[in-house]
Order: sequence, then structure tokens, then C-alpha cells
Amino acid sequence: MTSVEEQLGSATDAYRRMWSELLPVGRFDASAGYRRHAWTAADAECRTWFAEQAQARGLVYEVDRNGNQWAWYGDPKGEGAIVTGSHLDSVPDGGAYDGPLGVVASFAALDALRERGFTPVRPLAITNFVDEEGARFGVACVGSRLTAGVLTPDQAYALRDASGVRLPDAMAAAGQDPSLIGKDSDRLSRVAAYVELHVEQGRFLATGTAKRGPHAVGVASAIWPHGRWRFDFHGEANHAGTTRLEDRRDPMLTYANTVLAARKKARLHGALATFGKVSVEPNGTNAIASLVRGWLDSRAADEATLTALVEEISVAARERAERDGVRADVVRESYTPVVDFDAPLRDRLAARLGADTPVLPTGAGHDAGILSAVIPTAMLFVRNPTGVSHSPSEYASEADCLAGTAALADVLEDLTCQ
Ligand code: GLV
Ligand code: MN
Ligand code: MN
Repeated sequence: MTSVEEQLGSATDAYRRMWSELLPVGRFDASAGYRRHAWTAADAECRTWFAEQAQARGLVYEVDRNGNQWAWYGDPKGEGAIVTGSHLDSVPDGGAYDGPLGVVASFAALDALRERGFTPVRPLAITNFVDEEGARFGVACVGSRLTAGVLTPDQAYALRDASGVRLPDAMAAAGQDPSLIGKDSDRLSRVAAYVELHVEQGRFLATGTAKRGPHAVGVASAIWPHGRWRFDFHGEANHAGTTRLEDRRDPMLTYANTVLAARKKARLHGALATFGKVSVEPNGTNAIASLVRGWLDSRAADEATLTALVEEISVAARERAERDGVRADVVRESYTPVVDFDAPLRDRLAARLGADTPVLPTGAGHDAGILSAVIPTAMLFVRNPTGVSHSPSEYASEADCLAGTAALADVLEDLTCQ
């Protein structure tokens, strides 16, 4: 038995059991990745699992007005609560760890603390924030954005999935009343801090730095500003076999050139720009497309760079569109400003975990980032040996996940017991 397993006691087994229970849920055999999109059957299975974990531990279970799940150890109406958790939904063909690791670690950390006989003086809650990835309706972190009031009910009601299903209809079909959604200041006013454990989505902890070698667990310092933009390229459908090249208004050409421009401009800015999703109409092999719709995900270390980068990509798209006889429309679908995590909380976590704990920034978005606008938040990252994420090959060793769980338990003990 390792020292971390000793520290966690029977919570080690609880961690393993929970992990193996979730592994088959929403798994897509052909890719071995996960398709746990918000308000689908796979998501419902994850949510049932969460409710069962709460019940098995005698926790007070709640679903808030926005569909986020809460499991309370202590009084849900008590003041100064410490909240931990993450999300259970996934990107298309996502990995097993992004989200679920934080939820499983939270329940296991609570188990370890109870076994240790901890004596909290404030409530502790575990959450599953709904629709973190935005894989189905296009906007990430819908649950935490609504709760924080940075997404309005009207904006949420307007969201549709690829089949045209409206978000409120998907919520209603899953048994969640969409008329209740909106800012939840009352709930957040009783939360003193939110701490989210997450698999690292990069190789900072695996590589280490000259000053600090590789580490199993680190503390987050900041999240890069990031957003999603939809590029609509309207051309003219026509016959692929009979339309002369010079007579075409082919939006696929404009799209392809925009993808290349985005890559080049991101490199020049030292930033990131990704077209990872595209839809084509009519989507026929022997037809020139009438509409190509591409979604740009762009991120940079600071907001000025991000704004300049997206503006340059938009200009390049419009210039090329003009040459191709195509109309280009650019719409910003979501935006998250830079997040600097609460410095006292960050420092408290780092101090608790040891002076050599790495403190690292990330380019990935999280509910902790959204909530940081309204309450103090912090994050713990668990080493990812390859850095791969949003992919079936995402991985973290069990030993590191347990080390993360033990670190979370220590941090929660510190925050709840005084
Ligand atoms: C969420 O994982 C994101 O960074 O898009
Ligand atoms: Mn993710
Ligand atoms: Mn995540």
C-alpha cells in the first residue's frame, strides 16, 4: 500500500469503485471515447449516478434552478460553504478524466475526511455543473454561467443543438423545468469558495521546470481568455460536374483559406486558433456547397492579443470571401475573459500542499473560471503524462489521481475546519 493509499484509507476503494462505475457510461465503442452530452440519455445516467453517490453517503441532494447537482455534507442553507466538484459531461469522443475525475475525487475526498473524523465548522458541498463542455448547444459552462448570471435566460433559451432541439426543450424532456433558469445569487452568497480538481490538459506537471521537477499535483494560477466564433460562408449550390471553375461561388474555398489564415495568424501572435467543427450544406459529394459553417475556438494569454487575432482572422475571411463571390458572416457565440484565480485562496492551497507545489496557468476553460467572477475559486490539476485531452487517449495514472484526491482532501479539511 502506498502512503497516499494509507492516507485515503477505505476511500481508495471508494475511488476505484466509483471510477469503474462511470467508465462504461456514455462510452462510444467505435472510438473508445465518451459522448456524454448535456441532457441526453448518457448524461441522465451520469446524473443518476451522482444522485446515488449522494444518497449512499446520507448527503442532502439538490438540483438547482439551472440543473446543476449538489450533494451537501452539512446544512445547505448554512453560510460560508466550501464547494468542490466538476462536471460529468464530455466533448464528442472525449476522455474519461476531463470532468469525472474531479467529481469522483470530491466524493472520495469527503469519504477520507469522514473516516479521519474531520470536524467541519461550515457546510461542504459536491457539485456536478451541467453542460460544461457545450458540446451539444455550442456554449461552454452553461450551468455555471447561468448561476453566475453571465448567461441570461433569454440567451440560453435561444440555444439549439445540431438537430434544431432548443435547450429549454431538451431540459424539459430530461425533467428539468427550464422556466426556473437564471442567476442564483442567493445560493452563491452562501458559498465561501469553490475548489475544482481537474486532469491537466497539457504537460506542465509531467515535464516540470528547471526549478521544480515533475509533480503529480499542481495549483492553477490563471486561465487564458478564450471564446467561440461562428463563421458562416454563404455561396451558391451548383453541379460539381458542369459548373466551370470561374463560374463558381464556392464557400468551401473561403472556409479552407480561412482555416489556413487562422493557423498562420495564431502562430504569429503566439496564440491559438482552431477550427474543429464544421457543417456543410447540402453536404453532397457532387454538389458545390451553398453554406459552410465553421466554428473557431481561439485563446491567447491576454485579451488584447485574442481580440486582435480574431479580428485579423475575420478580415482574412471577408477578403477571401469577396474574391470567391461568397458572403462571410462572423458571430461571437461565447467569450470568457482572462481568469486570475483568487490569490489568497491559491496561495493557501499551495501552502497546504507544500512549498514546492507547482502553480501553473492553463488554456482550458472550467466552471471554476466562470464562477471566479462572483466567488473565490481555485483549481488543482493532476498530472497528465502526454498532455492529451478532449480525446479518447486522455490519461492520468491511478496513483496520480489518488494523489490528487488526497491533496483535495487536505485542502478541503483546511478550508472547512476553520
Ligand atoms: C473546456 O474544456 C474548454 O476548454 O473548452
Ligand atoms: Mn473539457
Ligand atoms: Mn473539464
